[in-house]
Amino acid sequence: MTEEHPDENGEDEVTLRRREDGSVELRVNGVFVMDDVETSSERLLARAVVDLGASEVLVGGLGLGFTARELLSAPSVQRVVVAELHGEIVGWMRDGTLPGAELLDDPRLQVVVGDVRDVVSTQPEASLDAIVLDVDNGPDFLVHDQNAAVYEPDFADVCASRLRPGGHLSIWSMADSADVRAVLEERFEQVGATAVPVDLQGRDETYWVLTGSAPRRAG
Ligand SMILES: C[S@@+](CC[C@H](N)C(=O)[O-])C[C@H]1O[C@@H](n2cnc3c(N)ncnc32)[C@H](O)[C@@H]1O
Repeated sequence: MTEEHPDENGEDEVTLRRREDGSVELRVNGVFVMDDVETSSERLLARAVVDLGASEVLVGGLGLGFTARELLSAPSVQRVVVAELHGEIVGWMRDGTLPGAELLDDPRLQVVVGDVRDVVSTQPEASLDAIVLDVDNGPDFLVHDQNAAVYEPDFADVCASRLRPGGHLSIWSMADSADVRAVLEERFEQVGATAVPVDLQGRDETYWVLTGSAPRRAG
């Protein structure tokens, strides 16, 4: 199927397209965002924080739902908040255009339509075990210019304050980023980077998950 709808603020055009081979891709303003063929890095983003013991998790970006599905597949996960900028993506999941209506029915899941920066800000302090961000391609390959702020120090400060002691901020990126590592290193006791090899229709690429663990507290 190809469906095109302007988003609620009328600025972005979000498109779902079914290819001839049956796979589905998501585009915003004509720019490829993701497909449902190679989703290992989206799933790893979730699995890594589950394996670290996270039980209450906030996810930036519903997309095609692979990160949320992986989280909810873990019985140890008790609460997932997903922030999604484009309400029509949630609507497509709800009406069956996209798979995932069963995720939306999971009582552990809350989907909030809005900017992840606002959604994180409204969480109580020290209330989350992990925040996982996959709203854009990383600071150097933005689909939405305004998402530059997602990778900047001020938002990392907000994220760190919403995490419990020992919590994790995990960021998906198309490439490793010295800037993101530096932001994390200032705010977290431990910083790690995981390279995720992916096969993009025969082309080998590497995506990255950058993680800060244990927020440093002032004083
Ligand atoms: C790459 S996709 C996420 C993929 C997702 N991890 C999955 O498993 O399918 C990025 C998603 O983030 C959403 N998005 C972009 N900017 C956002 C923002 N600032 N706040 C919340 N969602 C945002 C996009 O509409 C898109 O659905």
